[in-house]
Amino acid sequence: MRILVTGGAGYVGSVTVERLVEAGHAVVVVDDLSTGHRASVSPEATYADLRYGDVHAMARLLTDHAIDAVLHCAAKSVVPESMADPALYYHENVVGGIALLDAMRSADVRRVVLSSTAAVYGMPESSPIPEGAPLRPINPYGATKVALEGAIESYGAAYGLRSVRLRYFNVAGASERNGEAHDPESHLIPLVLAAAEGGRPVTLFGDDYPTRDGTCVRDYIHVLDLADAHLAALEATDPADPRTGPPDASAPSVLNLGTSDGYSVREVLDAAARVVGREIPHRMGPRRGGDPAVLIADAGRAGEVLGWHAGRTDLDEVIGSAWEWRRRHPEGYAA
Ligand SMILES: NC(=O)c1ccc[n+]([C@@H]2O[C@H](COP(=O)([O-])OP(=O)(O)OC[C@H]3O[C@@H](n4cnc5c(N)ncnc54)[C@H](O)[C@@H]3O)[C@@H](O)[C@H]2O)c1
Repeated sequence: MRILVTGGAGYVGSVTVERLVEAGHAVVVVDDLSTGHRASVSPEATYADLRYGDVHAMARLLTDHAIDAVLHCAAKSVVPESMADPALYYHENVVGGIALLDAMRSADVRRVVLSSTAAVYGMPESSPIPEGAPLRPINPYGATKVALEGAIESYGAAYGLRSVRLRYFNVAGASERNGEAHDPESHLIPLVLAAAEGGRPVTLFGDDYPTRDGTCVRDYIHVLDLADAHLAALEATDPADPRTGPPDASAPSVLNLGTSDGYSVREVLDAAARVVGREIPHRMGPRRGGDPAVLIADAGRAGEVLGWHAGRTDLDEVIGSAWEWRRRHPEGYAA
């Protein structure tokens, strides 16, 4: 397959590109490096320094490279930033995303996999969360993903676009080559590892939640498992593949990606302490608004539809891979 990956210089995108290349696919990466790193792009992939919302340039690129399928991984994805600057999020994630779909229409590319998020569910009433749970995002980031998912569904029904929309839970870990290096960083595991290296102590936002130790529980999915799921999802968009039927709200083309299990913030700190061999400096803080106590995927449908299951569910293994990557790249991508 010839696959175009937007955001292939980002955390999830770069690891997924590695996996696609390894599986023998030809990959074109589109990334404007706004939050990504040129050095993270697989040398085997073709790189284009472009914005995916540039409809004419994208249509040309899709045609020139005879692209079969698009993996749309690029997005703005920092919740507090989305609350401070919703215009940026709607322009990038929604307006830009629709421009990408229009470029695909004009280049007659009819297969897409979208990186979506558990943030579409907002504050779920129960956990594990199935795909049919109500979509009630509580921040602009989640709302823009709901909007783009909806546009893909409508384009599917009207223009024959075959899609898989993947709702990730908390992505973590690293491959040998690529890891998580956001600036600023907002994800727990890299913050914990930075604290272990002498950075700022980690703040635990609330220890009075109705969970086993009072801290929030999240479903951490290894980025290598996620990469495997993308490969399967891209294959499933083949018109000859029965797995992506006619798109509608209940069709199996919307899939949660998680482990169907969760760890608390304290359990993450304990696991990280085991991995690095010392205590993680931390302090208690008050609850943050908009943090559900528990966010765990019901990922059963991804198993049924794609035959995919998260295989790297041991938290020490997930954190260990992120720690190894940091040790091998002490300067991140700057070195
Ligand atoms: N990391 C997570 O835990 C997580 C969880 C749920 C969903 N997601 C989704 O997964 C996707 C990837 O997340 P990530 O953590 O790898 O983010 P990231 O910021 O590391 O990667 C995003 C990439 O997209 C590029 N990009 C952004 N806007 C662009 C534009 N207009 N044109 C071209 N390139 C552009 C950035 O430079 C970056 O390389 C996002 O869509 C995000 O919403 C991530």
